[in-house]
Amino acid sequence: MIIAIDGPAAAGKGTLARRVAEHLGLAYLDTGLLYRAVGYQLLEKGDDPENPELAEAAAQALDPAHFDNPALRTDDVANAASKVSAIPAVRAALLAFQRSFAANPPTGKNGVVLDGRDIGTVVCPEADAKLFVTASVEVRAERRLKELQERGEEAIHARVLQDMKERDARDSGRDVSPLFPADDAFVLDTSDLDADAVFAAALDYIQQQTRSG
Ligand code: DC
Repeated sequence: MIIAIDGPAAAGKGTLARRVAEHLGLAYLDTGLLYRAVGYQLLEKGDDPENPELAEAAAQALDPAHFDNPALRTDDVANAASKVSAIPAVRAALLAFQRSFAANPPTGKNGVVLDGRDIGTVVCPEADAKLFVTASVEVRAERRLKELQERGEEAIHARVLQDMKERDARDSGRDVSPLFPADDAFVLDTSDLDADAVFAAALDYIQQQTRSG
């Protein structure tokens, strides 16, 4: 079973994907981490994340052993990730990794949940269930601000909102694999829903899809 969960930053995809995977006994891949790991490598070396040659080399040298580095979670790395993700050679290099994960779930798992921006449209168009999880940019900025404050990081609302708008524009406006819902995706707006309501709606849809499919 393959479940694709796409959507913009801070819409609640990660929380939902982890919970769905746990509930259904599936393996989970946060594909944003791949792009973050590439962006992080460039920032670490003081390189420009928009340099196509350096970004491609970093994508080809990707090491999943580093995916749990907490430094990948910062907003600076998220912005670098968004920049490298617009480079076609970077996306091509990361595609094989994602497809191979989807086709070969770890032992003991019945399938996979992948979350990202282009899972239902490009990485796994054959997915059994596709969700597009979204929320208004104001709500997403508010959630992001809270998360940063809880981590003890300094954050200003106007700056977080501005960053979120810029990232949305870059992720949706790029030429290669831009963010948009697949024709057959279930669009779930989480602006007025809490995590439990999002999970219940998603599970309902997934069960309908997998029963009929
Ligand atoms: O999901 P995230 O915030 O960790 O993703 C960071 C950036 O990576 C995001 O702004 C765009 C890029 N990305 C992508 O282009 N395609 C994916 N499947 C996942 C992430």
